[in-house]
Amino acid sequence: MDTPMSDAQPKMPPRENIILIGFMGSGKSTVGRMLARRIRFQFLDTDRLIEERARIPIKAIFERDGEASFRERETATLESLAGIRRHVLATGGGIVTQSRNVPILQRLGWVVQLKADPDELYARVAKSTDRPLLKTENPRERVHTLLAERQPLYDAAAQFTVNSTGLARERVVDMIVQEARAVFGWQ
Ligand code: S3P
Repeated sequence: MDTPMSDAQPKMPPRENIILIGFMGSGKSTVGRMLARRIRFQFLDTDRLIEERARIPIKAIFERDGEASFRERETATLESLAGIRRHVLATGGGIVTQSRNVPILQRLGWVVQLKADPDELYARVAKSTDRPLLKTENPRERVHTLLAERQPLYDAAAQFTVNSTGLARERVVDMIVQEARAVFGWQ
């Protein structure tokens, strides 16, 4: 009996990078840095790269040029990373809102979602003043609405999800490392 080609070909493992996606306050930068140290990968953060290239903070990009300009810069930054290897990449919480970014993320590496309950996310970002999308009268409500809009997008883009609600960051790192061993075939 003929075997269809798709069955005969082994599934390619993703490129050896770990791409963290998730809402503001989900821990992408903090967990990402800890994870990179643990597995001896380099760490990069799209928000920091955008700021370095623009030479102004994200808050100022939103104020001066608007969100659409920020999103253009975000996609251009992602595209510029096509050659990276053995990196952990933290991304901005809105990266999945542009559907063009999703295949780029998936080509770059293994896409891991950090997830948490809205109240915990809000508690983690409540004091920050550098998140333009939360500069509103009712930031708690904004977190709930934005998360409800975005959750299906994170779920569709991610190949693995860790719910970090109530978990220590070290535990979140452990869970990603354990899964990465299987995904990348590490001993
Ligand atoms: C954004 C999240 C921010 C930053 C920008 C927009 C968003 O990144 O990219 O303020 O749309 O959720 P963090 O998720 O690192 O806060």
